[in-house]
Amino acid sequence: MVMRYVEVHGERLSAIGLGTWQFGSKEWNYGRSYEEKESAAIVNKALDLGVNLIDTAEAYGWGRSERAVGRALSSRREEAFVATKVFPIMPVDPVVRDRARRSAARLRVDTIDLYQIHWPNPVIPLNLTMRAMAGLQRDGIVKHVGVSNFSLGGWQQAERFLSGNVLSNQVRYNLLDRRIEADILPWAQETGHVVIAYSPLAQGLLSGRYSAGNIPDGLRAYTAAFQPGNLARAEPVVEVLKGISREHGATPTQVALAWLIRRPNVVAIPGAGSLSQLQANVEAADLELSDDEDSELDQVSKAYRSSSGPNAAALRAVKAGQLLVSRTIERYTKPIKSAW
Ligand SMILES: NC(=O)c1ccc[n+]([C@@H]2O[C@H](COP(=O)([O-])OP(=O)(O)OC[C@H]3O[C@@H](n4cnc5c(N)ncnc54)[C@H](OP(=O)(O)O)[C@@H]3O)[C@@H](O)[C@H]2O)c1
Repeated sequence: MVMRYVEVHGERLSAIGLGTWQFGSKEWNYGRSYEEKESAAIVNKALDLGVNLIDTAEAYGWGRSERAVGRALSSRREEAFVATKVFPIMPVDPVVRDRARRSAARLRVDTIDLYQIHWPNPVIPLNLTMRAMAGLQRDGIVKHVGVSNFSLGGWQQAERFLSGNVLSNQVRYNLLDRRIEADILPWAQETGHVVIAYSPLAQGLLSGRYSAGNIPDGLRAYTAAFQPGNLARAEPVVEVLKGISREHGATPTQVALAWLIRRPNVVAIPGAGSLSQLQANVEAADLELSDDEDSELDQVSKAYRSSSGPNAAALRAVKAGQLLVSRTIERYTKPIKSAW
């Protein structure tokens, strides 16, 4: 297996990285043994196979993911390009500096290789956050600055405020969501920046394992993509992935990743629910798709439209929550009301 790398701004990032939201996060529900043991095995195997980009965030399991990555890296820190993210609540100078130091401590590193703003903050002016980032770079706590979920204009503005390179924008990019191709991706390619593709497998949907009768639990049960109508709409894409994967003796997820990293300046950071998934994902770096296969995927994925209607499962959950709250209030206020 030969890993591919994207070279930008003096760095060499593996085209397949490792996303670690799954480590210790309730949203994924993978359990204790996964958090304490399997996560370390996943990080180590990833490094063995040539992955260097390890992505985490202080928000993942509220520090649990960063801690798990820190424990796993221990003696192999030099082999990794460690990326984490600041949770952008009050992202002003002293707060961001404090958060970065805490993240570095959890990760057991002196310098965070890439420190990303997890989302734009609509209230706090961006120049205040970038001032903090510049200070962190001066102090050697942060090597590169990145953004996440930023528009192209926001990314460019971040760079102006930093008066320096904002290496990457981490954005959702997969065969079912190609919105960044309109402007973010071409700009990154023209100017030597990186797009870090998150949810590259559409959170496992592109594996072809899920259907209306088999929806994963945890957070995904409430997301629009996993609602029966949208699962059905995604079927043509999954079918093409299956067909191409058979030709290569590969899996649909490997083809989905190979398609992404065929694009210049794109690295993908799939999460892995197990060691075998990690291994399969990394092996996608070795899979060469033909131009015909690429355009077949291009066409079928462009035809995909998710329903923009209300998310029925989320509405059901909200209603169930409201009912629970109103019943609880009723229960506890009944004795008070009857005493009035
Ligand atoms: N910046 C942001 O706002 C943001 C947002 C989301 C994610 N991220 C980052 O991006 C990373 C990846 O995104 P993601 O976790 O949302 O989605 P993803 O990588 O598209 O999907 C991960 C899930 O897909 C399934 N999977 C993975 N490899 C597989 C394989 N080889 N075969 C079959 N199924 C496989 C697993 O779920 P099951 O086996 O349980 O189906 C796994 O948990 C995260 O870990 C995080 O670091 C960033």
